[in-house]
Amino acid sequence: MHAPTITSPRQAASALREGRLVVLPTETVYGLGALATDPAAVQRVFSTKGRPADHPLIVHVASAEELPRWAQTIPDWVAPLIDRCWPGPLTLVLEASAEVDPLITGGQPTVAVRVPAHPLTLQVLEHLGPGAGIVAPSANVYGQVSPTTADDAWQGLGHRLRPGDLILDGGTCSVGVESTILDCTGPGGAARILRPGAIGAEAISRFAGIEVTGEAQSASDGTTPRVPGSTASHYAPRAAVITVERDQIGSDGVAEFLPAGVHRSDCALIAASDVDTPPGWTRLLAAASDREYAHDLYAALRDGDRRGCQVVVAVLPTGSTELGEAIRDRLHRAAATGSASGSS
Ligand code: TXA
Ligand code: MG
Repeated sequence: MHAPTITSPRQAASALREGRLVVLPTETVYGLGALATDPAAVQRVFSTKGRPADHPLIVHVASAEELPRWAQTIPDWVAPLIDRCWPGPLTLVLEASAEVDPLITGGQPTVAVRVPAHPLTLQVLEHLGPGAGIVAPSANVYGQVSPTTADDAWQGLGHRLRPGDLILDGGTCSVGVESTILDCTGPGGAARILRPGAIGAEAISRFAGIEVTGEAQSASDGTTPRVPGSTASHYAPRAAVITVERDQIGSDGVAEFLPAGVHRSDCALIAASDVDTPPGWTRLLAAASDREYAHDLYAALRDGDRRGCQVVVAVLPTGSTELGEAIRDRLHRAAATGSASGSS
């Protein structure tokens, strides 16, 4: 079967209206889209991904003006924040309005909403018209690596799509890691980051004029069902991922992290460009910046699997930038599972 890939937002909107699933490009990762007001299609998003029903979905809308349809009791500081960040990689968790199907929220009283910054997907939303929302989790099988190209989405999820489902090809995602998720429902209007992304606590705090808490949760405490991306078995390739801090690297370089019993030709390296590749290893990523690291990370993990690498050693960015922190978060979660246990 050939990938049912299209480039027309109008065609994507018609398919969504007919209850089909459409894989959509965003600036972060590709999403598996369905009309938020079509319960059968929303149900298929869960079954296609293999995602548990209590793991809620993000509703994607065309603009900030659409927010009141989905959310209520919106704190005052949200307006200046979304004025600066939307369209963009920031998802807000707010009290859900009565119109939101509990299927989307996993029965919780809150809903996650964002305006994605990809022209094609914004055009799809415009074609759908006022009031439209698209639920779109990352377009990968539950627990696996998110896709940043249409082809990666097809490779990872194509076998689960049905005739009539489509993939809207919008090129390579510019950011490369999922949106920041900000819980805005805390007591006294407190805000907490549930998942780090390209927009960090400092920027949110500055734009909104509020205090922001909750850095990246560590992989070990991330078992809350509210954020499936924070359960252990996420963002995981088939290869076992070993994370290494820069200051753990001694004078012999990263070669010392090759696990016993693994041949160096089965080992790969993901790191900033100033970290040397040991002889015999495969180099999957040599990033000149955190931005480049985030942009290429998921493709690199997929590449390692394609090449049959058993082990990926990932040298973590220091976390001095928002993206550095998001990369650390995803790599810790990718490392929480390995080839032996597989991913859910
Ligand atoms: O960048 C992104 O956010 C991408 C693109 C496609 O928009 N989407 C994405 O969706 O990453 P997904 O489903 O893979 O991750 C959505 C995250 C999950 O961790 C989910 O638990 C959390 O959002 N979430 C959704 N609704 C929530 C809610 N009401 N409260 C807390 N977390 C929520
Ligand atoms: Mg995901």
